[in-house]
Amino acid sequence: MTGQRASLITIAADLDQTSLIKQPLDCARKMKTSLSPMFAALALTVAAALPVQAQGVTGDAKAGEGKVAMCIGCHGIVGYQASFPEIYKVPKIAGQSAKYITAALEAYKKGDRKHPTMRGIAGSMSEQDMADVSAFYAQQGQSGTPAELPALREASAQVTQLLQKGACVSCHGDNFSKAIDPTYPKLAGQHADYLYVALKAYKNDSHHTWGRANPVMAGMAKQFSPAELKAMAQYIGSLQGELKTVPESRFR
Ligand code: HEC
Ligand code: HEC
Repeated sequence: MTGQRASLITIAADLDQTSLIKQPLDCARKMKTSLSPMFAALALTVAAALPVQAQGVTGDAKAGEGKVAMCIGCHGIVGYQASFPEIYKVPKIAGQSAKYITAALEAYKKGDRKHPTMRGIAGSMSEQDMADVSAFYAQQGQSGTPAELPALREASAQVTQLLQKGACVSCHGDNFSKAIDPTYPKLAGQHADYLYVALKAYKNDSHHTWGRANPVMAGMAKQFSPAELKAMAQYIGSLQGELKTVPESRFR
């Protein structure tokens, strides 16, 4: 078990640091020697960008549980860090809204989000895979009855003013956990360093390896300096919310 875990992490790190286009065969070769056929097959399809299909499939959390083998090497390890475009913690996705998870995966697949690793992974997923995996992560680690969230921590005068300028709560909800639309993310308690990377990616929306093209958030992020984005990210990341990283039992 320990050996399997170690090799998965090595591959994850490889995937993260390198250009997707020239790597898939190399990765596939390494994966074949150490991982399940499912993972190897995934790597081979990594470069094949399929067209995004129309919405309308229903996700099945149970089916999704059987499809997350390729995610847990990063999203199922507490504190696991990505190294591209800088070192930051891989986002928490357990407890995230299912519709937002799907929207994010579609954005990677379509290329609106440029992060190379996630583009490769999302590019290999069908619409049904995305819906199932999203349904699984939305309920993972959640009690079923939404807990009362604690009162919002007070922000510094600077951060209060920045959040007001961006009207962030008008979309992300009063406590950054109750977005006004299920395709908008919950933010409270997300890793602050990841939130900062995400905000910078919206600000630099056309950057070819890490930009995020999103008309709503580009307009938001471009109003602020990097230091201001970081201050907001640190505050939002310090809030208590529903997002988690749930370690997978097979890795314990
Ligand atoms: C090699 C490590 C790695 C693997 C494997 C991986 N991810 Fe990711 N994932 C990341 C990183 C790093 C990011 C942040 C990318 C960015 O900055 O946009 C991310 C981002 C995401 C996001 C966006 C989160 C948000 O808040 O917007 C979703 C959703 C996601 N991954 C789902 C998955 C799913 C589902 C799988 C398995 C099918 C998977 N990931 C496999 C590393 C990984
Ligand atoms: C008009 C609605 C709206 C407003 C106002 C808004 N957001 Fe967003 N935000 C969104 C949407 C929609 C997304 C998802 C975009 C995507 O799919 O990439 C998002 C995504 C994000 C993300 C990425 C989260 C992740 O998990 O990757 C962060 C961070 C964020 N917003 C922070 C903020 C901050 C800080 C403000 C205020 C300065 C703000 N938002 C204002 C709608 C909004």
